[in-house]
Amino acid sequence: MSGRGERIVMVTAYDYPSGRLADVAGIDLILVGDSAAMTVLGHATTVPATMEEMLMLTRAVTRGAERPLVVADMPFGSYQVSDEDAVRNAVRFVKEAGADAVKLEGAGPSLSRVAALVGVGIPVMGHLGLTPQSATMLGGYRAQGKTAEKARKLLEDAVALERAGCFALVLEAVPAPVAARISDELGIPTIGIGSGAGCDGQVLVLHDLLGLYSGHSPRFTKRYAEIGAEIQGALEQFAADVRSGAFPEEEHTYAMPEDELEAFLSSPTPRARTET
Ligand code: KIV
Repeated sequence: MSGRGERIVMVTAYDYPSGRLADVAGIDLILVGDSAAMTVLGHATTVPATMEEMLMLTRAVTRGAERPLVVADMPFGSYQVSDEDAVRNAVRFVKEAGADAVKLEGAGPSLSRVAALVGVGIPVMGHLGLTPQSATMLGGYRAQGKTAEKARKLLEDAVALERAGCFALVLEAVPAPVAARISDELGIPTIGIGSGAGCDGQVLVLHDLLGLYSGHSPRFTKRYAEIGAEIQGALEQFAADVRSGAFPEEEHTYAMPEDELEAFLSSPTPRARTET
């Protein structure tokens, strides 16, 4: 697609309906992001996401999404220790959850993980810039590559990830001109989030774009809907209808044949069995 100059669209999804809706909407790639730890599981960061949780979410998404490429995010701790761990866990995403590819964060030690995964036939998406799993090391959730030296390091890491075998690279919270240069220099597509229009594609977190997450959304997200407010309004209306007796109505109930009803209503009340 990037070769044809077509911008790539990626969105996160975490369950069957969001996978299905993303597919029907014509989204190119779905990321089962470890952002699920925050958006779906209510944690303060992405760090607590576990393999079992990510596998369950990925299985649900792949049941709903048939056409888009589904990328499973490897959670913190599932690839940091060794290449062997990375392969073992990535194989589970492909084999048990139906993922097409996996994503992992950073360069450095992640380079040998990428090579190991690609070596066993698992496509890998890289992730540079603001890498939430190591946000503490980066000094918090803040833009990366804002000095010439740091931008140069990002470019070097991006080239190294491409050489290691990544098929695409997420660039998160990187100044737009830095992301544009990285995108120009790489042969693989870049997918930006908060990194400007010079990337080959864009990704947003589903809950941010739908207005479904009440936590802090980064400035680079754009809300395309206010689904959270819609849901809350619907729930309040449901509660009010039940309390006032406005729900259920006739149309929400089942009828039965008249004669059966009469027979039922005229039948004697069963007595409680008395113990002898
Ligand atoms: O986990 C996630 O949702 C991500 C995106 C922000 C790229 O990694």
